[in-house]
Amino acid sequence: MTITHTYDAVIVGAGGAGLRAAIEASGRVDTAVISKLYPTRSHTGAAQGGVCAALGNVEEDYPEWHAFDTVKGGDYLVDQPAAQILTEEAVDAIYELERMGLPFNRTPEGLIDQRRFGGHTANHGERAVKRACYAADRTGHMILQTLYQQCVKRDVRFFNEFYCLDLLLADDGRTAGVVAYELATGELHVFRAKSVLFATGGYGRMFRVSSNAHALTGDGLSVTFRRGIPLEDMEFFQFHPTGLYRLGVLLSEGARGEGAVIRNRDGERFMERYAPTIKDLAPRDVVSRSIYQEIKEGRGLGPRGDYVLLDLTHLDPRVLEEKLPDITEFARVYLQVEPTTEPVPIQPTAHYAMGGIPTDVHARVVTGSEETPVPGLYAAGECACVSVHGANRLGTNSLLDIVVFGRRGGDDMARHCEETDLPALPVEATTQTLDLLDGILTRQTGDNVADIRAELQDSMFDLAFVVRSEESLAKMGELVGSLRERYDRIAITDKGTVYNTDLMEAVEVGFLLDCAATLVAAAAARDESRGAHYREDHPLRDDANWLKHSLAYRNDDGSIRLDSKPVQMGPYVPMERKY
Ligand code: FUM
Repeated sequence: MTITHTYDAVIVGAGGAGLRAAIEASGRVDTAVISKLYPTRSHTGAAQGGVCAALGNVEEDYPEWHAFDTVKGGDYLVDQPAAQILTEEAVDAIYELERMGLPFNRTPEGLIDQRRFGGHTANHGERAVKRACYAADRTGHMILQTLYQQCVKRDVRFFNEFYCLDLLLADDGRTAGVVAYELATGELHVFRAKSVLFATGGYGRMFRVSSNAHALTGDGLSVTFRRGIPLEDMEFFQFHPTGLYRLGVLLSEGARGEGAVIRNRDGERFMERYAPTIKDLAPRDVVSRSIYQEIKEGRGLGPRGDYVLLDLTHLDPRVLEEKLPDITEFARVYLQVEPTTEPVPIQPTAHYAMGGIPTDVHARVVTGSEETPVPGLYAAGECACVSVHGANRLGTNSLLDIVVFGRRGGDDMARHCEETDLPALPVEATTQTLDLLDGILTRQTGDNVADIRAELQDSMFDLAFVVRSEESLAKMGELVGSLRERYDRIAITDKGTVYNTDLMEAVEVGFLLDCAATLVAAAAARDESRGAHYREDHPLRDDANWLKHSLAYRNDDGSIRLDSKPVQMGPYVPMERKY
């Protein structure tokens, strides 16, 4: 049985971007949020070190310096008008969070305190600047709680543990709603709407070592991709330099902002060699590649020589206690290391997708090189590509992105709802979803989903990691193809309707395969190095041929067609990226 609901605005995902959009839309139009998790379990809660804005509370700072850093950090693939909006609206966004009740750390004078973070500099690279506003190392958690409370206050309707499995487009091309699966009952729900915003987060679970929660499986990207929407800049995936060794759990860059340093097996603070000006506070792509190089040249530690150390031992223990309590505890609990006296084993961990569903600065989903909006369709946060992060995101710009573009998306979807009528549903609205679920449920024997996921994660981590090559990507491309063939023959044991997590995990692996296929195809085509995409066979940036965004489309037979669109330039002329 299918249950039908009707709202003006439907938001898929209850992380920071979804909640901020809901706050904006709900004051004006009838708004619902669908989430596969309970909202406060969303992955925004795992973001640790800060959310940046040029408040200038601790050191001189300006939005223009922040914009420059964002564009340079993104290796000039950033759409500069979007970066200017992000950095100019940042200041109001932070004060709004403060007014909503977010408990930021304070300076002795009572202002919002700020700390240093990778790639954020004063005066276009002169020195590191204190720009990250923070609530200890629980900034994302505090943002999530604050925004959720505001949604509750506004009576936003939540549908928790509902998995969005399809996007419905009317025959005239307008967005008509989504189809969702209710985990508790196995029932399908059709949500009719005038506008839909995807805020479903990233897809870091395609890698073996990841800072991402298990839920980060690229759902929104895959659902829209299967309906003909392209995915932009998928080759750019960020590896955060300081994941707990083998586990990938994040140790915030805020630690280095407070003075921690990274050392190799000789105890050397090697970032002094790679980034002489800002050293350990270089952007993440630079630090992760430097760690890779140290390990490759035999200066890693451990029996396999495959990790380096984050050294916090010289910091005042009160700093750890008051400003970095969570990561201190993570080191103790997960690695049995006492960070006040011992350095912590770390390695780069899959952290953040720069690419995603293409949008304009109003969070409207756009397709093609002309950026034609899909009426009523929006995306914000990590699943979207606006593109403010270009080829490499600066730390703390993602929490900023979700509040700035979440608000903009909520505002524009309300406007759209006020100006349009409810589109007719396409005939057989649930057919594609039923085919997807029946295909998995009816097979009695077949391939094992967990094996496919494990092989995908292992091989992506080995072949599409911090450093890639034509050879590694060709191998990965073949592997994704064969995993897809096996995926088409999967069988699961639980055939029930109540909390069938086996079924949803199987669906999620299909989503991950879509994202992996687009990542590998775009990475194989881009024969240059830029930001987080480093090709050892093409180590230089090639602006003449590649100063452009990639677009990956799904052909009817499931294969991928690549296209491109220009980068929106502005005041910052591409130059060599040194730190
Ligand atoms: O290191 C961190 O605290 C992560 C922040 C971010 O990804 O923005």
